[in-house]
Amino acid sequence: MTDARQVPPPSAQDPVARIADLRARPRRTVLAVPGSSVRMIDKARGLPVDEVFLDLEDAVAGPAKDEARENVVAALHTGGFAAPTVVVRVNAWDTEYTVRDVTEVVGRAGSKVDALLLPKVRSASEVVALDLVLTQVEKAAGLPAGHIGIEPQIEDALGLTNITGIATSSPRVLTLVFGPADFMASVGMRTLTVGEQPEGYTPGDAYHHVLMSILVAARAHGLQAIDGPFLKVRDEEGFRRAAARTAALGFDGKWVLHPSQVDAGNEVFSPRQDEFDKAEGILAAYAHSTSVEGGARGAVMFGDEMLDEASRKMALVVSARGRAAGMTVSDPTITNG
Ligand code: GLV
Ligand code: MG
Repeated sequence: MTDARQVPPPSAQDPVARIADLRARPRRTVLAVPGSSVRMIDKARGLPVDEVFLDLEDAVAGPAKDEARENVVAALHTGGFAAPTVVVRVNAWDTEYTVRDVTEVVGRAGSKVDALLLPKVRSASEVVALDLVLTQVEKAAGLPAGHIGIEPQIEDALGLTNITGIATSSPRVLTLVFGPADFMASVGMRTLTVGEQPEGYTPGDAYHHVLMSILVAARAHGLQAIDGPFLKVRDEEGFRRAAARTAALGFDGKWVLHPSQVDAGNEVFSPRQDEFDKAEGILAAYAHSTSVEGGARGAVMFGDEMLDEASRKMALVVSARGRAAGMTVSDPTITNG
């Protein structure tokens, strides 16, 4: 894990380095917290999630928006979140709140904000608009311009259609985030249970095309892919099942709505110990076999599997995720030969 003392404070990093750092951070669990609830914000401080987002959008009723903004600014100044990455979800551009959200939150507490989560993104121009407003607000507040990331949410058919443009719309974009509830409503899916398969669609995964499109666009442009919420918060097994599917597909993490989902989310989106050990073993064996001392061989047997350069790349993914989660090999001989 990175030694926090060696990471320069955000204001000392150039924007490119800062955004690269934000993009690389783990996001196995992304905790949604309503900005209108001081009690829930306080509770969120202690939860061991990778990212927390304070919500000004759909978890906050219209008449509570102003108060939620005040709560969020106060909470950012108080700090104390166990989550290393702190994000605020602003309201979508089709409301009257977006500019006010950015002005108030970034203008008054921008040095405490790693990124803004932008919901219901339908086109690249919505991200560009946020980038422009953010740049002005950062400058007016004496903050370095370009230091706050943007995490666009893909929540309807048009957003999915325009996903490549959205992914490449701004250097600030860190992730692409699936919003299943809004998406299901937008396409007219016949279910009211968010996170589960719609009744009657068997066999198969009703979300596969959407998830894979988000994943491919994210990977094509060096971004993380994040899955949205599973609303039945008392159904831990159901959450685990849904999370395991997107983790298997390659997603980096998933929203969590309740403390009961946190441990399962962190576990599901980290490699298992045996997977991590195998990845480290592959990397060591492959490094040896491709070296001059090892015979400069490009294909090598590892157990009963034939490895080549593509195997090394797959092992690197598992290894990087495991290391980011603080994992080490269970037995040093795995990497010694
Ligand atoms: C989240 O915003 C969702 O719509 O699922
Ligand atoms: Mg939504």
